Amino acid sequence: MSIFNSNTLREVAQQFGTPAWVYDAATIRHQIRQLRDFDVIRFAQKACSNTHILRLMREEGVMVDAVSAGEIERSLAAGYSNIEQSESIVFTADIIDRETVELVVQHHIPVNIGSIDMLHRIAEKAPRHPIWIRVNPGFGHGHSEKTNTGGANSKHGITLDDLPQAITLIQQYGLDLIGIHMHIGSGSDLEHLSQACNAMVEIVKFANVDIRAISTGGGLPAPYLINDEKLDTSIFFRLWDEARRDIENHLGHAIKLEVEPGRFLVANAGVLLSEIHCLKSTQQHHFVLVDAGFNDLLRPSMYGSYHKIEVIHQDVNYKPVRSMAAPLNYAVAGPLCESGDVFTQDANGVICHQTLDNPRVGDLLVFNDAGGYGASMSSNYNSRPLAPEILMDDGHYRLIRKRQQISDLLALEVL
Ligand code: LLP
Repeated sequence: MSIFNSNTLREVAQQFGTPAWVYDAATIRHQIRQLRDFDVIRFAQKACSNTHILRLMREEGVMVDAVSAGEIERSLAAGYSNIEQSESIVFTADIIDRETVELVVQHHIPVNIGSIDMLHRIAEKAPRHPIWIRVNPGFGHGHSEKTNTGGANSKHGITLDDLPQAITLIQQYGLDLIGIHMHIGSGSDLEHLSQACNAMVEIVKFANVDIRAISTGGGLPAPYLINDEKLDTSIFFRLWDEARRDIENHLGHAIKLEVEPGRFLVANAGVLLSEIHCLKSTQQHHFVLVDAGFNDLLRPSMYGSYHKIEVIHQDVNYKPVRSMAAPLNYAVAGPLCESGDVFTQDANGVICHQTLDNPRVGDLLVFNDAGGYGASMSSNYNSRPLAPEILMDDGHYRLIRKRQQISDLLALEVL
């Protein structure tokens, strides 16, 4: 069942139209609380980068990770400042362009370095700059090969082979090394995440250098299917805390332990709301066509991701009546002029089905657990404007991003 009640979603659809993203602040705060044992919770904002969500995070004492100049600007707009609180923003990447170097130096933003070339570029501009090293531990794991960020197929991080050279350069330049960071992939599981703890201890010993902090990266899973297990955050913390202690014993002083989740904080806190515009059947499938497409929610088309879909009947007095003739299983698709615009598909693009309760034209369709990598991955494909975002907090909802207008798109092309 959706985290929102049907009447709320009907009201939201009426007021703001569809498609629309709706988030629940209480769910985000609940997720944050589960990670309070870590010294620093750093939100990987690529999962949901609306400045109002960032402001909520900041008010809860959560720091932020940025992966582009745009995400740095978002962090600053949301009130993060490394001058007021050092290290509240960290920039993570494998390359850094000249404009972004200026930005990180100007705002004292530590850089989490994922390549030797990036290391040179920072050092040339600011030889004493604070940095992290992002290490590729030689293995990785994600919910898809596309989100696995470790091992020989990954472009991310400094490999173990390159680590000694990176350390030598850092020392030669006099860069200020804060810590070692590792992110093995997104949508991982406890078993693989715990392998990263052991690897971190080995890597810190191998690096043979003093540090003040370690970061677990992100990758904490969120449940999408009814049977998906919730991450036991106390076990997750205990494993990392043990790794931290081993490293403290080795270095002879205390170090900070950071966690860098994206999905875990927001995925289950958001839905995409759409309206049904058409029902049609082929010999293979009963299709339900809605006004949201993969320009809004890309995950099913990109990874075959599952999002539980529910009908909200426009008729508030609707009572389920199951006629023997009515189909139960539907393929749900969007308006885009591309066959892959289907929300019910597996990772190979094979169309699957979900059971829906008597969907009809005019009813609303809700895509659950879409708060992470939902709005932030949207595009303007087929010249469709970005959908509005609405935040529900303390019983009230408010618009936190307006619907983009077609004129906004055209304006960029008026030369
Ligand atoms: N830290 C770093 C360096 C990352 O690259 C990422 C995600 C995270 C943290 C946060 O990972 P999380 O806790 O959210 O798993 N678009 C994909 C996910 C791509 C993740 C990219 N990096 C999806 O929709 O599943």
